Amino acid sequence: MSDVPALDPLLEQRRSPSVFDPEHSLTRPELMSLLEAARWSPSWGNTQPWRFLVGLRGDATHALIVETLTRGNLAWAPAASAILIGLRQVAALPDDPKGELRTYDYTAYDLGQAVAHLTVQAASLGLDVHQFAGFDHAALAATARVPDHLQPVAGIAIGRWWPETERHGVDPAIEAKEQRPRQRRPAGELVL
Ligand SMILES: Cc1cc2nc3c(=O)[nH]c(=O)nc-3n(C[C@H](O)[C@H](O)[C@H](O)COP(=O)(O)O)c2cc1C
Repeated sequence: MSDVPALDPLLEQRRSPSVFDPEHSLTRPELMSLLEAARWSPSWGNTQPWRFLVGLRGDATHALIVETLTRGNLAWAPAASAILIGLRQVAALPDDPKGELRTYDYTAYDLGQAVAHLTVQAASLGLDVHQFAGFDHAALAATARVPDHLQPVAGIAIGRWWPETERHGVDPAIEAKEQRPRQRRPAGELVL
């Protein structure tokens, strides 16, 4: 495999940390840069069928999101500087009743790709991202008044990884999760 070109460092170094620096804040320009990366992602018919809820630690949207986290995610995600919720379009936009989208089959794909772009942009800014599905989707849709044409899909915790030399008071279970080795299927399994 030595003749295989190395992954770009942004991809190679990306991982989903579970220990975020609870003092770090995301700046507005950084947030806008992440949303810009998502904005320029490709999509079916260029329909861009994704939206985001944006919660910055300490604000009301963040609090709403935190209330819906599963117990496992409650132990680490609130420390992130921001939590976004990725929403995909599942019905026509209210101002487009005829439906610009002829199919919603690709909206989850498109949202995922937009978030992948956001994740790479985050890495280029020295930020870390940990996506998660573990939250009460229906409860969040209700409390955040998500319109019916959008469906919450995944949470996107963004912040700065808290280095071992600086961190303190981290839940031992989260510390163990953080130390777990990362694994992947062999590349040969990806090709049918
Ligand atoms: C759609 C999706 C849902 C996920 N749900 C959770 C979750 O609820 N809790 C969690 O701790 N991690 C969650 N993850 C993170 C994955 O477990 C993680 O990406 C995977 O273990 C690979 O690790 P890596 O990102 O460090 O390479 C999720 C990731 C994705 C893309």
